[in-house]
Amino acid sequence: TGGAGFIGSALIRFLINETSHNVLNVDKLTYAGNLDSLKCIEKNPRYQFRQVDICNDVALTDAFNAFEPNVVMHLAAESHVDRSIDGPAAFIETNIVGTYNLLEVTRRYWAQLPEKSKASFRFHHISTDEVYGDLDNTLDLFTEDTPYDPSSPYSASKASSDHLVRAWHRTFGLPVLITNCSNNYGPYHFPEKLIPLIILNALEGKPLPVYGTGAQIRDWLYVEDHAQGIDLVINKGRIGENYNIGGNNEWANIDIVKTIAKLIEQEFVKNSELSIRFPSAKAAIEQNTESLITYVNDRPGYDRRYAIDETKTNNELGYKPKDSFDTAIAKTVQWYLNNEAWWKSVMDGSYQNWIASQYE
Ligand code: NAD
Ligand code: DAU
Repeated sequence: TGGAGFIGSALIRFLINETSHNVLNVDKLTYAGNLDSLKCIEKNPRYQFRQVDICNDVALTDAFNAFEPNVVMHLAAESHVDRSIDGPAAFIETNIVGTYNLLEVTRRYWAQLPEKSKASFRFHHISTDEVYGDLDNTLDLFTEDTPYDPSSPYSASKASSDHLVRAWHRTFGLPVLITNCSNNYGPYHFPEKLIPLIILNALEGKPLPVYGTGAQIRDWLYVEDHAQGIDLVINKGRIGENYNIGGNNEWANIDIVKTIAKLIEQEFVKNSELSIRFPSAKAAIEQNTESLITYVNDRPGYDRRYAIDETKTNNELGYKPKDSFDTAIAKTVQWYLNNEAWWKSVMDGSYQNWIASQYE
């Protein structure tokens, strides 16, 4: 579920390109879902798509019966913290009620499978490190045993869905796995999130909004590494367990923003055509791109630091991120420079309205 979103589309590209799995992508196509992110695999005979809301049990049941999955990977969610502060209802509906509905449809389907298929079936719930809350003023890391302490409507809805998934295992025996990952970044990331927003604002010579002082810390994980991690969990994870997936890569927001500004400047030096395609960025670079940084109001209920202890995931599953941050963030900036058609198409009227209400 959620295969037209940022992480879901990376996962489907990975499953089609690097494995022999057949994939059914079940996605409602909200503002965050975009089938253009799957153009490179959409004609592959091992890939199918159905536009389905996970809250619709009839449509979901129909999809299960037609496709007969042996694994469910659940990524459909409302995922943006700021939107959950602006309007929590959709987060309760999709993240909690939708997950409940998906669990029930899955349970009914799983219960009638032959014993062998029943034993090998897996339900993998993709969740977030935000369920653990905040690591303010400590050097601690989130382990799989850190108590849940969510701060935002988004993280509370994800925590709630994690509890439902665990309960469906304990009570009904559904073979579940849960992963809690840190902040992903990479290609096809919707430009409401920090990294793509900063890249695209810089290319348009617009202010680079930094919440508070920019001292908040996130642990950044390259989305293609995450896709491989999910595949490892499905193949090697122990039923009923949760696994943290992080990047071992903590950055203060302000340093991320400055790094992106520098990378864009370097790309403009390497390629003179960029100054013609993005004249506003060229003007900003002449002034120093960092001068676009604008400090804006903190998020209410703001979590200061997230950081993941990946010992369990590394030791049990042999998980290791492939790319270094330097390489992957440079690839990400280059991807946005080379894929203007993709990001122009998602910056439609509803996107402009969101940006206006959030930042102006
Ligand atoms: P995203 O917002 O980019 O994509 C979400 C996808 O879910 C979209 O394609 C959307 O159309 C679909 N969707 C939303 N509501 C739906 C519904 N009711 N029925 C069917 N489909 C629906 O999200 P993402 O960044 O790809 O995140 C994927 C998952 O990973 C989410 O569960 C999120 O909580 C979790 N997560 C994300 C990050 C991150 O850094 N992006 C980090 C940790 C965990
Ligand atoms: O930690 C995992 C979470 O990472 C996921 O569960 C969420 O789905 C995902 O959206 C992400 O949440 P964040 O709130 O950390 O990501 P975001 O990109 O929105 O913000 C990253 C940091 O940057 C955060 O500290 C807020 C700050 N920020 C964000 C925006 C959009 C700014 O300073 N300026 C901005 O304009």
